[in-house]
Amino acid sequence: MRFSSLRGMQDILPSEVHLWQHIEEQARKIFEIFNFQEIRTPVVENAELFLKSIGEDTDIVEKEMYVFQDKKGRKVALRPEGTASVVRAYIQNSLFLNPAPQRFYYIGPMFRYERPQKGRFRQFHQIGVEVFGINSPAVDGELIYMVKKFFEKLNIKNLTYEINSLGCKKCRTLYKENLFKFLSDRITILCSDCKRRLEINPLRILDCKVSSCREALNDIPLIVDFLCKDCRKHFLSFQDELNSMDIPYNVNPKIVRGLDYYTRTVFEVTTTALGAQNAVAAGGRYDYLVELFGGPPTPAAGFAVGMERLIDLCTETVRIESKKPYVYVAYAGNLLNEAKNLARFLRNNNIPVETSYEEASLKSQLRKADRFGVRIVVIVGEEELKRSVYRWKNMKTGLQGEATLKELIEMLREGR
Ligand code: HAM
Repeated sequence: MRFSSLRGMQDILPSEVHLWQHIEEQARKIFEIFNFQEIRTPVVENAELFLKSIGEDTDIVEKEMYVFQDKKGRKVALRPEGTASVVRAYIQNSLFLNPAPQRFYYIGPMFRYERPQKGRFRQFHQIGVEVFGINSPAVDGELIYMVKKFFEKLNIKNLTYEINSLGCKKCRTLYKENLFKFLSDRITILCSDCKRRLEINPLRILDCKVSSCREALNDIPLIVDFLCKDCRKHFLSFQDELNSMDIPYNVNPKIVRGLDYYTRTVFEVTTTALGAQNAVAAGGRYDYLVELFGGPPTPAAGFAVGMERLIDLCTETVRIESKKPYVYVAYAGNLLNEAKNLARFLRNNNIPVETSYEEASLKSQLRKADRFGVRIVVIVGEEELKRSVYRWKNMKTGLQGEATLKELIEMLREGR
């Protein structure tokens, strides 16, 4: 019987994983400089957590969540994103008692039952960050600054930073009323999904990809024109922050994001290099979510980077040597056990080693060493062993010689 991975879910093979590790390492380094600390939350949560935060009439919750009943009949879900879980953990563990800002980052798999295509998977990975407790737009600016630094570290260029403000409850209500009126007049043009959305959440219509709906949106009222005084001030100060850090950006008043919890700042980092799935990172503010989940009123903001899309961009910009075993220990005659002992000894001295485990001719062992791509072959030979030395050969330069165990360790440690 042969099995394949599920549609939209991929293996990350050793030949690719080094790039993943490199990116994760860069993220950790940069985020920790900004005092973010790692948080790890479960992959499976109560489904209600996502229904209530992302929103019941969003694509993610309506169509894309992996929801199932556990053995006790509880409705659980594979997490489609990280923010809701971090908010839950923040409240459940009373992390709000610690001084603000509290900053967290996470790296891990997310699950959305989407139609797979380039850059879109059913299991994908995010590197995300969340900051709790600060209302200031300086935090929003800093998030963009940090993600930009991260992309720069990976040599990724030609990214566009698109920003918008979705206002607070007050301005959103006013905007929704206007939007409803505008769209009601055009209801006949809207697709069947949007006709339904009009009643429940007209903001979603701005996200619709159906061309008739996009046409209806040409002169749609924009949220930026409905922001209350405080939200407008917040949005302008956010832009001042970006200007002061020389971060180029576009205000795109049509960004509404596919998740309902956002308030005020939202942003997307896009590229033209990835085709249709052009967002590499996205995020924003969600000032009501902690309270909605029973925590104290706590402003919050964050973003998540899509790892698979980032990997696609990095294959061009980051060169990583794939890790190969450094040394191959081969043997002549019947010295298999001596070779195993030497291999163990070298590994105990932190030298990465591959070796033979079966009876084989020296010639076939050397062929294997070559296929492994090792740098140095060390040969345990009868005659050399009597003189307490080992023969070695550098497979790259062709240089060869003899060395005592002490000299061998020194040589290998120094990477010669
Ligand atoms: P999101 O926009 O749904 O936001 O996802 C963030 C990023 O994850 C996207 O920009 C994209 O790069 C990647 N992504 C999303 N879906 C897929 C998929 N099916 N396949 C591959 N990559 C994908 C969030 O998830 C929010 N939790 C971000 C956030 C954090 N907001 C505040 N804090």
